[in-house]
Amino acid sequence: MTTHPSTEANRLADVLYNARLRVDDALGRFVPAVAPGSKSECPPRLAEAMRYSLLGGGKRLRPVLCLLAAEACGGDSEMAIPAACALEMVHTYSLIHDDLPSMDDDDLRRGRPTCHKAFDEATAILAGDGLLTLAFEIVARHTRPADAAVACVLALAEGSGPIGMVAGQMADLEAEGRDDPSIEALEAIHRRKTGALLRASLKMGGIVAGADEAVLQALVEYGHAVGLAFQIIDDLLDVEGDEVKLGKRVNKDSGLGKWTYPGLLGVAGSRARAKSLAEEAVAALAPLGDRGTTLRSLAMDLLERDR
Ligand code: IPE
Ligand code: IPE
Ligand code: MG
Ligand code: MG
Ligand code: MG
Repeated sequence: MTTHPSTEANRLADVLYNARLRVDDALGRFVPAVAPGSKSECPPRLAEAMRYSLLGGGKRLRPVLCLLAAEACGGDSEMAIPAACALEMVHTYSLIHDDLPSMDDDDLRRGRPTCHKAFDEATAILAGDGLLTLAFEIVARHTRPADAAVACVLALAEGSGPIGMVAGQMADLEAEGRDDPSIEALEAIHRRKTGALLRASLKMGGIVAGADEAVLQALVEYGHAVGLAFQIIDDLLDVEGDEVKLGKRVNKDSGLGKWTYPGLLGVAGSRARAKSLAEEAVAALAPLGDRGTTLRSLAMDLLERDR
């Protein structure tokens, strides 16, 4: 049966909305507020800064991918909520640090002052550290069974650490201002700075659902292609996007000397590359059959995003 495109778009919008609500609700519970004078060991200002960045908007793409992957594998996505929240915590930490004066030096994120502007630099660094560490605690403590928890911790560490997102951030900064860009080198930056955590999001959902190796591989291939496409669109939005909709500054990358897809391929070439990656992502999910429908729709939908 073929579904009318607008019906599928509405269905996808509902699915995403509901998944985001569940993630937001769980995040608020995993990172509670600490009242001044309370008995908590967590300093109130640290908790406030962590909650400020974590709960202040964001598309929740990584946790949503994790929940959808669990469902696509026939699992109960409720079991993937701790993994999903951990992914959003790691992502939020990466944004807090990415915005610091020593990195991209941004003052606006998710429509509000960046963490170091709203608090101060030291608090922002520590809020990022706190979210990163808490993420691993939450996966280890709440994911069942224990072997799924261990596999998720490994996937999250690989995706976010010194061969994953952190590697990509290092490479992104080292490339700044260098005048020998190549598409291969740029892809290697994007694959790690953004792709690695997206791949981990899909994999963790599959792990919690008990997916076999072949299905995990299909999810990782999908994550690889969507991750690259997602960062290409991010680069495009820096050139063509609307600051209010995005909730972050635009036209920043060229001034920082960043290597970007529009910088190398132009706007039309970048759009074409993102589209062909989204199609690769769709094709990668063939082994999942009908269960992959929502993830397939999401891959195409992300091409049209304006925030
Ligand atoms: C921004 O990520 C940084 C990138 C890795 C491209 P998102 O576009 O997912 O940011 P939020 O979470 O919606 O704020
Ligand atoms: C950030 O990429 C990737 C991260 C790992 C945080 P960008 O530096 O392009 O993200 P934005 O544009 O500031 O959101
Ligand atoms: Mg950056
Ligand atoms: Mg940045
Ligand atoms: Mg960007």
